Amino acid sequence: MPRKIVARRSAIHGNGVFALLPIAKGERIVEYKGQRRTHEEVDAGDTGDIESGHTFLFTLNDEYVIDANHGGNIARWINHSCAPNCEAVLEEHEGGDRRKDRVFIEARRAIRPGEELTYDYGITLDVPHTAKLKKIWACRCGAKNCTGTMLRPKRKSAAKPDKDGGRGR
Ligand SMILES: C[S@@+](CC[C@H](N)C(=O)[O-])C[C@H]1O[C@@H](n2cnc3c(N)ncnc32)[C@H](O)[C@@H]1O
Ligand SMILES: [Zn+2]
Repeated sequence: MPRKIVARRSAIHGNGVFALLPIAKGERIVEYKGQRRTHEEVDAGDTGDIESGHTFLFTLNDEYVIDANHGGNIARWINHSCAPNCEAVLEEHEGGDRRKDRVFIEARRAIRPGEELTYDYGITLDVPHTAKLKKIWACRCGAKNCTGTMLRPKRKSAAKPDKDGGRGR
């Protein structure tokens, strides 16, 4: 099978992932791989620093985070966009082992060679989205409908603690 995607420098941020060949709508492109770590482990470490605005963490479910700093693959270079051509799809483990849930990046529409792959990170932090944090998490996707931040607005009714909101995605 010829390689369909490649990582290279992106106009959005740092490295991004680009299509080398046409990708069909609905196609499963790549798995978001990485070490499974609990939210507690990640919160106790230094890889999920919300003050840095940079993350390779993906919230898998309310128990686990995928930490692509360890065992990550090309999917960790995919950037966020407010008008994404891909989406992150959760596949729950049939036996209910939440550590074995998986995330796949799939095409929301047909993607042409040369296009950068993006998905909506859907990040919500479990602290107030202050102007400072919105700036740290500023979005540079360039889409017409860009909200200016990678942070998803919190719903007004979200007064209860957001269990999996520690790092969004
Ligand atoms: C999973 S990494 C993606 C790869 C990243 N471009 C890199 O070179 O490390 C996620 C980080 O990339 C940056 N990023 C991704 N999408 C972005 C966007 N639309 N605007 C600004 N920064 C973005 C942010 O620092 C984010 O925390
Ligand atoms: Zn944007």
